[in-house]
Amino acid sequence: MKKLSILLFVFVFVAGCGYSTKKQSAKQEKPVANTFKEVFKDDFYVGAALNKYQIMGADSQSIAIVEKQFNSITPENYMKASNIHPEKDRYDFRVADKYVAFGLANNMKIIGHTLVWHIQLPEWFFVDDEGNQIGRDELIARMKEHITTVVSRYKGKVKGWDVVNEALNEDGSYRESKFYEILGKDYIRLAFQFAHEADPDAELYYNDYTMYKPKKRDAVVQIIKELKAEGVRIDGIGMQAHYILSEKDSIFGNIEKSIMAFAGAGVKVMVTELDISVLPFPDENQGADISGNAEYNKLLNPYTEGLPEDVRLRADNYYIDLFNLFVKYSDTIDRVTFWGVTDNQSWKNNWPVKGRTDYPLLFDRNYQAKPVVNRILKIVKD
Ligand code: GLA
Repeated sequence: MKKLSILLFVFVFVAGCGYSTKKQSAKQEKPVANTFKEVFKDDFYVGAALNKYQIMGADSQSIAIVEKQFNSITPENYMKASNIHPEKDRYDFRVADKYVAFGLANNMKIIGHTLVWHIQLPEWFFVDDEGNQIGRDELIARMKEHITTVVSRYKGKVKGWDVVNEALNEDGSYRESKFYEILGKDYIRLAFQFAHEADPDAELYYNDYTMYKPKKRDAVVQIIKELKAEGVRIDGIGMQAHYILSEKDSIFGNIEKSIMAFAGAGVKVMVTELDISVLPFPDENQGADISGNAEYNKLLNPYTEGLPEDVRLRADNYYIDLFNLFVKYSDTIDRVTFWGVTDNQSWKNNWPVKGRTDYPLLFDRNYQAKPVVNRILKIVKD
């Protein structure tokens, strides 16, 4: 019996030592940061655009990724006028309210997207009850009512708004949208003013695609200068970053030049809609103008059975080079947001050609991080 007690004592003692050593060493080890939000916390926010299924809680697998990896969110579609303000006297805040509640519950930088855009805009916006095009005063009143209602509802909760989306053509001239046709370029200033009045603490951004193009870059810098000269608040420029793998070499240097130019104009840079399409692009001049859609044909959809190794490597390296660039300019870049979470949900599967299999994001069709994620998470500032 005595022997047994001694044995028991020795066992408990040894086991106890083992436990305490383990605990001690766990204490001494520095925790290894292995998520986007931890690794880049001193550099920039990292975010994702959320779709309706994610926001409404019907897609727990991607939401788990978002909660673990990201500290900023953007609504892919549900703050756009066609969804949030479908009729002149009717708003629909159901999805947007849930989106904001999700961001608050997870302590995220919540982005509002977008207040003034010529697409996904309800038909009533530019016509009166008889169907005639409205004039200047009425359009200003409608813009003000729309912006004030939406921004005030989320005052203090949405931290930054894409106030105006895609006002420019590729050559830097103003897009001939109805906003421009009726109000001229004044609509940009007015939109920023109305947003600022509705929430004086919110950050305000101008957002557009192909921002690496020199003429577009110059036009954006001009917009920033004009707004600032008029005392209108503008905090940042959103570079959408819908990139195409085959274009990398021809645009990469210009991405950096645009980051420098916007920083030089005194605003922060947001990389707002990052994805890299690996598929052939039917019209390289289309940028990300979603009004155009090309015909499906098999040659345009080559990777339905998986991505060949060489293409995967090139896509990985594009992401690595981009994140090296973002980290290099982390004093200027405030946020990097992916346009979606996993490959299967990306808009790139359906634009500019419907029904393709693309691989534009960093989480795959099985909701797993792609191997390149580990390489990205090791990038540090020189
Ligand atoms: C543009 C818009 C986004 C989205 C994409 C396509 O980039 O800014 O809101 O509509 O097109 O998903």
